[in-house]
Formats: sequence, structure tokens, C-alpha cells
Amino acid sequence: MLKLFLQSLFILFFLLSSGFCIESDNITASSVLKDGDTIVSSGKVYSLGFFSPEKTTNRYLGIWNNVSAISIIWVANRDKPLDDSTGIVTISEDGDILLINGKKEIFWSSNITNSPMNTTAQLLDNGNLVLIDNSNGRIIWESFGHPTDAFLPKLKLNDNPRTGERVLLTSWKTPRDPDFGSFTAGLQALNIPQIFIWNGSRPHWRSGPWNGQILTGVTDMYVVYLDGYSVTKFDDGTVSFMRDYYGKILMKIILKPNGSFVQTMWDVNRRVWNVTWIAPIDVCDVYGKCGPFGNCNLRNSPMCSCLKGYEPKNKEEWDKGNWSGGCVRKTFLQCDRNSNSSDKNKEDVFWKITNVKVPDFMDVSTALEAEECEGLCLRNCSCLAYSHDPGIGCMFWNRSLIDVRQFPVGGSVLQVRVAYSELDKKKDIRVIVIVPVTIGVVIIFIGVFFLWQSMAKRKGANRKGRILTHEVGKAYIRGSSGVVIRDDIDEASLDELPLFSFKMLETATFQFDVTNLLGKGGFGPVYKGKLVNGKDIAVKRLSRASGQGLQEFMNEVVVISKLQHRNLVSLLGCCVEKEEKMLIYEYMANRSLDLYLFSQLLYLPQLIL
Ligand SMILES: *[C@@H]1O[C@H](CO)[C@@H](O)[C@H](O)[C@H]1NC(C)=O
Ligand SMILES: *[C@@H]1O[C@H](CO)[C@@H](O)[C@H](O)[C@H]1NC(C)=O
Ligand SMILES: *[C@@H]1O[C@H](CO)[C@@H](O)[C@H](O)[C@H]1NC(C)=O
Ligand SMILES: *[C@@H]1O[C@H](CO)[C@@H](O)[C@H](O)[C@H]1NC(C)=O
Ligand SMILES: *[C@@H]1O[C@H](CO)[C@@H](O)[C@H](O)[C@H]1NC(C)=O
Ligand SMILES: *[C@@H]1O[C@H](CO)[C@@H](O)[C@H](O)[C@H]1NC(C)=O
Ligand SMILES: *[C@@H]1O[C@H](CO)[C@@H](O)[C@H](O)[C@H]1NC(C)=O
Ligand SMILES: *[C@@H]1O[C@H](CO)[C@@H](O)[C@H](O)[C@H]1NC(C)=O
Ligand SMILES: *[C@@H]1O[C@H](CO)[C@@H](O)[C@H](O)[C@H]1NC(C)=O
Ligand SMILES: *[C@@H]1O[C@H](CO)[C@@H](O)[C@H](O)[C@H]1NC(C)=O
Ligand SMILES: *[C@@H]1O[C@H](CO)[C@@H](O)[C@H](O)[C@H]1NC(C)=O
Repeated sequence: MLKLFLQSLFILFFLLSSGFCIESDNITASSVLKDGDTIVSSGKVYSLGFFSPEKTTNRYLGIWNNVSAISIIWVANRDKPLDDSTGIVTISEDGDILLINGKKEIFWSSNITNSPMNTTAQLLDNGNLVLIDNSNGRIIWESFGHPTDAFLPKLKLNDNPRTGERVLLTSWKTPRDPDFGSFTAGLQALNIPQIFIWNGSRPHWRSGPWNGQILTGVTDMYVVYLDGYSVTKFDDGTVSFMRDYYGKILMKIILKPNGSFVQTMWDVNRRVWNVTWIAPIDVCDVYGKCGPFGNCNLRNSPMCSCLKGYEPKNKEEWDKGNWSGGCVRKTFLQCDRNSNSSDKNKEDVFWKITNVKVPDFMDVSTALEAEECEGLCLRNCSCLAYSHDPGIGCMFWNRSLIDVRQFPVGGSVLQVRVAYSELDKKKDIRVIVIVPVTIGVVIIFIGVFFLWQSMAKRKGANRKGRILTHEVGKAYIRGSSGVVIRDDIDEASLDELPLFSFKMLETATFQFDVTNLLGKGGFGPVYKGKLVNGKDIAVKRLSRASGQGLQEFMNEVVVISKLQHRNLVSLLGCCVEKEEKMLIYEYMANRSLDLYLFSQLLYLPQLIL
């Protein structure tokens, strides 16, 4: 309540202090932006002007979403506020954007070196303030290159391992002070791209490796059909992490002063920002919670345990709940002991742990099959663990295993090297455990089977009388015939992208039955379905609220098609009928199956990426 009240006050203050608006999206050498005025992007999405955070009188130059709930996405003079309202934004003689006060003191500048003489600053509809060289139309400076705390679509988080240049988000110091806070976030591209939040120089959160489709340690990014993230490598060594989508939804991820990423989406009807994702999502998500060789699992008590073959480094501290020391190896590995007496039967083995965020500091061998990873790791005594991901290849760890956490569902499989005796001992236990467990599983299966049958019966009753009249590929935007399931669509062949009928998809997904729901995303729900020819599909049903027009929808189709490559999920076709717009993808069994199985039982994915 109080928050709402403060927010309203804040907005009121805003409206009062905004005065009249000059309806322009740019500042030129001949126009200035005074405190009280704003410039508004051409689609009226973002505004640039002066603001004061709640309960302060400091004036800052910033960019905000032009919706009722004010949300600042960029601040120019974050560490140098004006104490009065005499601020003016101009284009200097040498083409820089300047923020000066009444006494002509400079509070902020775009700091272009060798800038041309004639420039225009323009605010774009994606929230980017760009400085354009009038002589050739090129962008010579952009606010997206110097972000504050907001990660917006089209903003590139860059990292160049060669030069060390990075584009980082920096949190506000406090919710009322835009000054540089202690948390930064960005891409670390070395070896394999990962997103980090750092607290000063120490890692605070890690996304897990990017596998070409998703960040593997962010389980909510499961449903690959929903996100729109990409990682691009450029010739100069720069690697970019970016998000793109083509709706009119306002969406932002803010790095909060407490070090959390918070993603919000603007709900047009309710006029509120909905929180749709947070990272770190729980205490286990905090970097290295259980120290080296530890594993964090919220379902265990205590949540920290040592990986198999390891024991607490300092038992006393560990039992007190101080896990930072982590664990050390309990039994020497065969290869450490004696390279001479290589008793093949006693060779080290691997212990498998599932649903994990794989550790930090991996080495990568690309394009290798799962079977090859084990051999490579086994042959190299410094290899502590491996993991295989079809989009990455083999990942090896030879330094330490830090920041391992277990999720209820999702995540990756990690194979930890242990001495033969570690698993050997377990054999006796296994017999004791396996029998009751097997019986239990059988009972559960029987139960589930009957449940499923009764549900299927009920559904069957609903379905009676519906006969499928369409076949895959029968309808095309431009003529073609036969069943064409493409997985190498480029822009040119988009004309041939199969058009599925609404009825066909309705049948394939049992009238979009909730039991077929794979996940819910910013653009609407995704359903699993089966075509009459037996092909499994995933149907992304774009919500009507997404505000996507036909043109934007087609743009999305074009871009998704362009992004197609070996590792990306294939786009099979689309459906545009009545109010409905849908994209049809190949169903990715491996990634989604467990989510599909467990989502209704354990873990409802309320989060959207
Ligand atoms: C700047 O905005 C004015 C409208 O105020 C418009 O007429 C002009 O074309 C814009 N200039 C550029 C370079 O976009
Ligand atoms: C954005 O601001 C302009 C001018 O202040 C206003 O006319 C328009 O209605 C606003 N748009 C939204 C979506 O609030
Ligand atoms: C511009 O340069 C000055 C001095 O080189 C520096 O203090 C200031 O922080 C820079 N501003 C920006 C926005 O980079
Ligand atoms: C800067 O460029 C604009 C647009 O090209 C032009 O109208 C203006 O005269 C130029 N100003 C100067 C000082 O050259
Ligand atoms: C961030 O680092 C500071 C200083 O090292 C520490 O006091 C603080 O607790 C850390 N914050 C979090 C959320 O870890
Ligand atoms: C950080 O702040 C956001 C709201 O600003 C909140 O949702 C989140 O739970 C906070 N995180 C922690 C770890 O306290
Ligand atoms: C925002 O949240 C409300 C309440 O949780 C929900 O009903 C609504 O559908 C959400 N809006 C969007 C666009 O997700
Ligand atoms: C936690 O344990 C480590 C050694 O493992 C020790 O150095 C550190 O002081 C302990 N921290 C606390 C808060 O007791
Ligand atoms: C390994 O074998 C060599 C010769 O076969 C022997 O000289 C050496 O002592 C052995 N090393 C160990 C550790 O047993
Ligand atoms: C052992 O594996 C590491 C990577 O895990 C690799 O860098 C190193 O070259 C390997 N050493 C040998 C002798 O193969
Ligand atoms: C682990 O591998 C990296 C690179 O492959 C290598 O630089 C490092 O020396 C290795 N460390 C150990 C302990 O073998």
C-alpha cells in the first residue's frame, strides 16, 4: 500500500515537474532540452528528460518508459546530480552531447573523441539515445553502449576477451541513488559465454554456459521457443549477448541495488509491471554457496553437501553451516596413486549427478559426441569432471568444481570422477535400496497409468466426432505440395514456410489442452502436439495481448528463420487465422520432456524469458 502511495506521489511529482513537452525525438545544435521539457521517441515509447528520484531534489538526466508507472532505464549524470533545475542538454560545437547547468558547468558529456562538427542526438523507440553524424548518418555514440542498470531488447552486452573491453550494467547505489552501486553484470565470453553478476570483483551469480539456445543454468529458459536471446561473435573478437523480439510488449531486466536481476513486463490492460523472472532465484543460486566441490540443493537439509568422493575441508565449520571452505577429495584417484600398476579393473569411474548448473571454469572441446567425453576425461588425470551438451560438445573441469547447484527439474548432467572404491562400496547398499525403490516405482507407474487412462478417456469423450481434415504442408503461402518438414529455412525460402491451419493445430494439441502445456512465456503459452503423421511439434500461441501485428509477427518469423542452425530448434511453419497467430516448432524431446513430466507435479514454471 505504502509503496503504491509513494509511487503515485512519484508519478504526480513527475507530471508536475514535466511541464509541457516539446514533441520532438531529437536534439540538434539549434535546439536545447531544458529541465521540465522532454523529448519523446517517435512511437512515444520512451522519453528523455530530467527527473528526481523519490524523496530527493537532485536532478538527473535520464530515459524512462513512457507509461504511467515511471521506470528509469538510463541515467546520464549518475554520479554528478544537479542541485537545481537549471540543467540544459545541448549539442556542443564539436558535436558532443553536453549536460550543463545555469553556470555552464559540465555535469556530463558523451565524451566523443575526434567528434565531427555536425551531429544530432535522437531517442529511438527501443530506448536507445543515439548521436548521429549528420554528414553520413552513422551512429557515433549510443546510450546502449554505456548502459545503466537496464538490460533491454537490442542492448548488446559485449565482451572482448582479446582487448578486455566490456559493456556492463551497473546497479544503482540504492533505490533512490542512481550513483554507481557495487553490482555489475555482463557477459564473460572466455571459453564459453556465461552471464555473470559481480559484487565488486567477486562473482555473485552465474547463468551457466550458453549452449546456442539457452543459458543452461537458468531453468526458466527451458522452453527455447520463448526467449529470443542470441550470442554473436564478431571478427574483432567481440562477443555479444542480446535479446530480440518483435512485439510491442515493454520488457526490461533491471540489475537492482541488492544485486538481483528482476525482469518485468508491462501489462497493458492492468497498467502494472509484472515481475516475470528473478536471478539469483534462491539462496542456492548465489555463486559458490557451498564452496569448492560442494553441491547446493534446497530440498536437502542442510542444503549443502559434498560431491561424491569429497568430504568437508573443515568439518567443524561445515557442521556449523559455514560452507565457504568447501570440500576436498576423500579417496585418492587411481591415476594419482601409481601410474605403474595400472590395474584396469580399478580404473577411476564417473558418478553422475543430474539437474545441475555445471561448475564454473570449464574447458571446452567442441563438436564431440557424448561417448568421447568420458574417454578424454579418463585419460587425463587432471580432469575432475565432464559434461556433454549437444550444443557445446564436451566440457571438462581440471581446476575446481565450484558453483554446482541442483534444480528440481532441468539443468545439465555432470559426471564427476571418483575412485573406483567410491562406487564399489555403494553396491551393497544398492541391493538394499534398489528392491524397495523398484517396487515403489512400479506402484507409482501403475497409479499414474490408471490416472492417465481415466484422463484420456475423459478427453477422448470430448474429442469424439472431430476428424482431421488437414495434412501437414497441404496449405502453403505460396504453392508447393507434399509434406515438407524443413530445418534449414532461410529468408529466401520463407515464402514456402508451411501454413498450418488453426483446426489442424487444435487437433494436434487436443484443443490446446492444459495437459499439453509446455510452458508459458511472454508471448503466450507453448503447447506440445502431435500431427496426424506422428510428428511431435511445439506450438507457440502468441497471446492476443502481445500486441503483435501481422507485420511484426512476420518479422519474428524471418528472424527466427535466420537464426536457424544445427543447434537451434527448427521452425516448421506458422498459422495466421482469425485472431490467432502461432508458430510451429519441432518438439525438442530431450530438453522439454522432463519439464513436461514434472511441471504439473513439482514445479510450475511461472517464469518467462
Ligand atoms: C527532429 O525532430 C523534428 C520534430 O521536432 C523533425 O522535424 C526532424 O525531422 C527531426 N530530425 C531528425 C534528424 O530526425
Ligand atoms: C507518452 O507521452 C506522450 C507525451 O507526453 C503522451 O501523449 C502519450 O500518451 C504517452 N504514451 C503512453 C503510452 O503513455
Ligand atoms: C568523460 O571524460 C572525463 C574525463 O576524461 C571523465 O571524467 C568522464 O567520466 C567521462 N564521461 C563519460 C560519460 O564517459
Ligand atoms: C548540420 O546538418 C544539418 C542537416 O544536415 C543542416 O541543416 C545544418 O545546416 C548543419 N549545420 C551546420 C552548422 O553545418
Ligand atoms: C557484496 O560485497 C560486500 C563487500 O565485499 C559484502 O559486504 C556484501 O555482503 C556483498 N553482498 C552480497 C549480496 O553478497
Ligand atoms: C532484491 O530486490 C528485489 C526488488 O527490488 C526483490 O524482488 C528481490 O527479492 C531482492 N533480492 C534479494 C536477494 O533480497
Ligand atoms: C500480470 O499479472 C497478473 C496477475 O498475476 C496476471 O493476471 C496477468 O496476466 C499478467 N500480465 C501479463 C501480461 O503477463
Ligand atoms: C568459515 O570457515 C572458514 C574456513 O573454512 C574460515 O576461514 C572463516 O573464518 C569461517 N567464517 C565464519 C563466518 O566463521
Ligand atoms: C614404476 O616402474 C618402474 C620400472 O618399471 C620402477 O622403477 C618404479 O619404481 C615404479 N614406480 C612406482 C611408484 O612404483
Ligand atoms: C588434460 O586436460 C586439460 C583440460 O582438462 C588439458 O588442458 C590438458 O592439455 C590435458 N593434458 C593432457 C596431457 O592431455
Ligand atoms: C587446466 O587446463 C587449462 C587449460 O586447458 C590449463 O591451462 C591448466 O594448466 C590446467 N590445470 C591443471 C591443474 O592441469
